[in-house]
Amino acid sequence: MLTYPTTTLILFLLFLLSLLFSAISAQSTSTVLALASTTTIVGTTTTYISSPTTPASSQYTNDLTFRTSLLNSTNLYRYQHNASYLSWNTSLASYAASYASQCIWAHTHGSSGENLARGYPDITSAVDAWGNERAQYVFSPADKMTGFSEATGHFTQLVWKNTQTVGCGAYNCSGTNGIGGWMLVCEYWPPGNVEGTGSNVNTFFQQNVQAEVVQGTQGFNTFSATAGATGGGTATTSGASVPTGSAGVAVPATMAASGLLWQVFSAMVGALGIGAFV
Ligand SMILES: *[C@@H]1O[C@H](CO)[C@@H](O)[C@H](O)[C@H]1NC(C)=O
Ligand SMILES: *[C@@H]1O[C@H](CO)[C@@H](O)[C@H](O)[C@H]1NC(C)=O
Ligand SMILES: *[C@@H]1O[C@H](CO)[C@@H](O)[C@H](O)[C@H]1NC(C)=O
Ligand SMILES: *[C@@H]1O[C@H](CO)[C@@H](O)[C@H](O)[C@H]1NC(C)=O
Repeated sequence: MLTYPTTTLILFLLFLLSLLFSAISAQSTSTVLALASTTTIVGTTTTYISSPTTPASSQYTNDLTFRTSLLNSTNLYRYQHNASYLSWNTSLASYAASYASQCIWAHTHGSSGENLARGYPDITSAVDAWGNERAQYVFSPADKMTGFSEATGHFTQLVWKNTQTVGCGAYNCSGTNGIGGWMLVCEYWPPGNVEGTGSNVNTFFQQNVQAEVVQGTQGFNTFSATAGATGGGTATTSGASVPTGSAGVAVPATMAASGLLWQVFSAMVGALGIGAFV
């Protein structure tokens, strides 16, 4: 027979459970966030042969130039596709740097979005290789929108509206594990490339990947776009300004094509489900 305190405890636990279930059902009716527990993430691989020959760009070797050129290029694509500027996330950056230094050509399968590149002569050309995938992306649901595809997955993560921060690391692998040149690892939070289920498979892509609303650089504010380069804090008028790096150096098409790309769409359903409710 149950004692009075035990019965009270059981009732209390039932009460907690009911709270949890109401939280879960509230979450699953939310239409905005990509954190719904029903999402699935798909993996992809894309490979090219790399044969890097160029000397190291300061975009790789100087920390501030690295962050600035990364944010500048990333945020130009985001600006053109009506997504807010990303700021720098230092914890993602240390995760990315530590992984890049292992020179392993495979995804980490962590909980953030992830773009990998190798063999590109500088950051600008690596990010452009991801961004240029937009030429193959169909935005309009009426025209059978692409949603997730291996050919456009880097681009859709790059401009994903719900993503707010990015952190990257790069490492000169110089042949380790067959990786010539530099390996670039970028992590995105909250992650993009989230799919719905059934007939809603492309819902999140429709909400988060918008067609080009600005072409070129008109109205693009390099200063704002790179404000996070000092380490993720608020924009300041000193330190965050634009260094004179080698950004914008034209890269021959053959160089860009020699890079290697890869993106993870990691199995993060469990992790996000927990994160969304706790
Ligand atoms: C990478 O490091 C190697 C030495 O390990 C060096 O010879 C090479 O020039 C470096 N490459 C770049 C692109 O910095
Ligand atoms: C840009 O996105 C915002 C919402 O994030 C939306 O209100 C606005 O209409 C969009 N602009 C264009 C040109 O589609
Ligand atoms: C940075 O990324 C982590 C995920 O690794 C996330 O938990 C954290 O909220 C992010 N920081 C900011 C400022 O968004
Ligand atoms: C940022 O991007 C703009 C547009 O492409 C370019 O004109 C500018 O030189 C870039 N600045 C840096 C610091 O990369």
